Amino acid sequence: MLRVEGLSHSFTNGTETTPVLRSINFNIKQGEIVALLGSSGSGKSTLLNLMAGLMKPTEGAIYIADTNIVKMSENQLSEFRRKHIGFIFQAYELIDNLTVRENVELPLVFQSVHPKIRKQKAMELLTQVGIPDKAELFPSQLSGGQQQRVSIARSLITEPSVIFADEPTGNLDTKTEEEILAILKRLNATMSTTFVIVTHEREVAEQTQHIITLRDGYLVTDPAAGGRQLIGEEAR
Ligand SMILES: Nc1ncnc2c1ncn2[C@@H]1O[C@H](COP(=O)(O)OP(=O)(O)OP(=O)(O)O)[C@@H](O)[C@H]1O
Ligand SMILES: [Mg+2]
Repeated sequence: MLRVEGLSHSFTNGTETTPVLRSINFNIKQGEIVALLGSSGSGKSTLLNLMAGLMKPTEGAIYIADTNIVKMSENQLSEFRRKHIGFIFQAYELIDNLTVRENVELPLVFQSVHPKIRKQKAMELLTQVGIPDKAELFPSQLSGGQQQRVSIARSLITEPSVIFADEPTGNLDTKTEEEILAILKRLNATMSTTFVIVTHEREVAEQTQHIITLRDGYLVTDPAAGGRQLIGEEAR
């Protein structure tokens, strides 16, 4: 459902060009939970933002459901993102002056969905993430773990085929992290949404079905390819 081919990316500052991703190739299947593992600066967020269509790569192709999103115009891309892609941020990114329920409903407001249906869907998702009783509170009245549950519910309300999460448990303690991972796994099982989760913690990655490891912008392991370590020229 997601295929990355010959993907390279460099950032340019004035005359200096820094290569960040180097000729990356991998496949992700519909319904998988994938961990994008690597140390700080290895290129995880850059890769995630490219796959989510938030920026364009220097080189290569990214197919989501057989469409190369790299070739899309800005307008096509924002339409595609709205329909097919969800995002979960490390810092939750909720809107403070909207209630929890209104935050979850927000993506449907932009799609002009009837308020009654919006509310019903938001309440269903808040129930699935275990906080239906918090619906009428504001984000500031919730714990970090609860705020992340809200942002998970919000990412799912448009029923995207893939959700990208950049260190979704990065701000949480170990117990809360486990709860959030359990929620993601349960949602993945019931809704068959594909999740791509960035993490620098091996313990988090090992709970997923498929681990993609980055080192200095190179793809170093892909268990989907038999768990081989790709080294030297192979990793390039
Ligand atoms: N906008 C930018 N301009 C220039 N360089 C950038 C930019 N964004 C990222 N980089 C560089 O790209 C490299 C990879 O950054 P990236 O944010 O993808 O790493 P990461 O694996 O997500 O790290 P972390 O675990 O710390 O979040 C880093 O060396 C970073 O300095
Ligand atoms: Mg990052």
